[in-house]
Amino acid sequence: MEPTAPPAARPQSGSVWVNLSIDRSAGDPLQRQLYDQIRAEILRGTLVPGTRLPASRLLASEVGCSRNTVLEVVGQLIAEGYLQSIRGSGVYVVRDLPDETPSAAPPAAKTALAKLDGAPPELSARGNAIAAARLGVRGGRHVAFSPSMPDVSLFPLATWMQLTAQEWREHGDALVTESDPRGFEPLRYAIAEYVCAARNVACGADQVIVTAGAQQGIDLVARLLLDPGDCAWVEDPGYPAVRELLRAAGAEVVPVPVDADGLKLDGAPSKPPRAIAVSPSHQFPTGVTMSLERRLALLEFAERVGAWIIEDDYDSEFRYEGRPLAALAGLGGIASARVIYVGTFSKMLFPAIRLGFLVVPKHLAARFSRGRVIVDLQPSIFPQPALARFIGEGHLATHVRRMRRIYRARQEALLEALAAEAGALFSTRPDVAGMHLIAEFTAELAERYDDRTAAGIVAERGVNAQPLSVYYAGRPTGNAFALGYACADEAALGAAVTTMVAALRA
Ligand SMILES: Cc1ncc(COP(=O)(O)O)c(C=O)c1O
Repeated sequence: MEPTAPPAARPQSGSVWVNLSIDRSAGDPLQRQLYDQIRAEILRGTLVPGTRLPASRLLASEVGCSRNTVLEVVGQLIAEGYLQSIRGSGVYVVRDLPDETPSAAPPAAKTALAKLDGAPPELSARGNAIAAARLGVRGGRHVAFSPSMPDVSLFPLATWMQLTAQEWREHGDALVTESDPRGFEPLRYAIAEYVCAARNVACGADQVIVTAGAQQGIDLVARLLLDPGDCAWVEDPGYPAVRELLRAAGAEVVPVPVDADGLKLDGAPSKPPRAIAVSPSHQFPTGVTMSLERRLALLEFAERVGAWIIEDDYDSEFRYEGRPLAALAGLGGIASARVIYVGTFSKMLFPAIRLGFLVVPKHLAARFSRGRVIVDLQPSIFPQPALARFIGEGHLATHVRRMRRIYRARQEALLEALAAEAGALFSTRPDVAGMHLIAEFTAELAERYDDRTAAGIVAERGVNAQPLSVYYAGRPTGNAFALGYACADEAALGAAVTTMVAALRA
């Protein structure tokens, strides 16, 4: 797939760069100062969406720091969704900003508010925790190497439209009065059948709660099962959205290291957790599958200390070797009483559909249903009947089978291109599942750059390589790129590898 077109041309605010300055006598590292200033200018709106960044050398000489410092900052801001690199064009301020902090309020609005009661109103402590979450927006990044992004251009939209039109034509009168907080009943039945057949999670439709993606599912879990101050373990490295979400819910988030068998229980601190968030089928981002021994130990541990396990099963459908593994929630045959299973349609369909689901233990189902009412009453009825039929009539299975073949071929093509062109820079190995590969830096590359700086360098040539270090809450153990291969075809992946290698060798 071709890179997205450059954002609409906007007047370039050249003078803002002159305003960026570094204070060498300040305690803060140069990189932090530059990062804070550029981010603040973007949030304040001085750097308007679509503004093109000057070349890193120019910016470095204007600001008075090394080019590597600039590249590292640019790599970080791209990873967080503030900047976007466009192939053959440069690095731009994105159109949709990842978050808004209080400082993002336009100066005029701030003054108006200040006049009202003397001082701008502050957020609550909880509000501040939410606003401080650093999450990148995912939309619009349908380009080579975007991790976790499916090829949305291959989604059978015509079938989807047909099912939607038919459902609403035939049952529209009844659908407009739907009011179940757990979601549309036929969809919950279809999901229950699906997770039983595909993931070995035997459950009733009453245990299924349809959500706006995994994100809302985990939010609901955090609201209903955690109190502020409760300890929540997350994988390190791990999915930043889970980490930020639990932190925003007031939990004391504790990163626990991951090794070749998954979450290291013995690497965890002694304070017992109230929740443990894991991605056992295909750990994000390392790709590790949690061993059976670890799974059993984790279930036993959770039972012993009274912790909930949040199982994020985000991409297990795309498994390229053997049969998909049973989910942790289904290890005992029936849905475990300790595990909340989190499913998503973001990978199987497309992320913008914002549909996912929870499978909750039977004894919690009624309370989750009531608790959901406080969040948003019920999921929007609009896409649910079509999805129920999409699953029930076998379109989902057909689409997943097709995409599995395609993604597997793309993974092979990426591995081949990396081996042929970048063997001296990266060490890679096939992944049995998923939508991205980990390309570890060889000693030769690591001697020259860390992964954030390297990401900044390749971003200047319009290639979005995600530095693995952004997924760490603690100290990264090495340098690597997480390279998504699902949303770009073989030719685009090959071209991106060539550009990336040329940038790193320059
Ligand atoms: C590890 C992980 N979990 C879950 C999700 C899905 O999240 P959502 O359903 O909110 O789109 C993603 C998507 O990128 C992911 O990478």
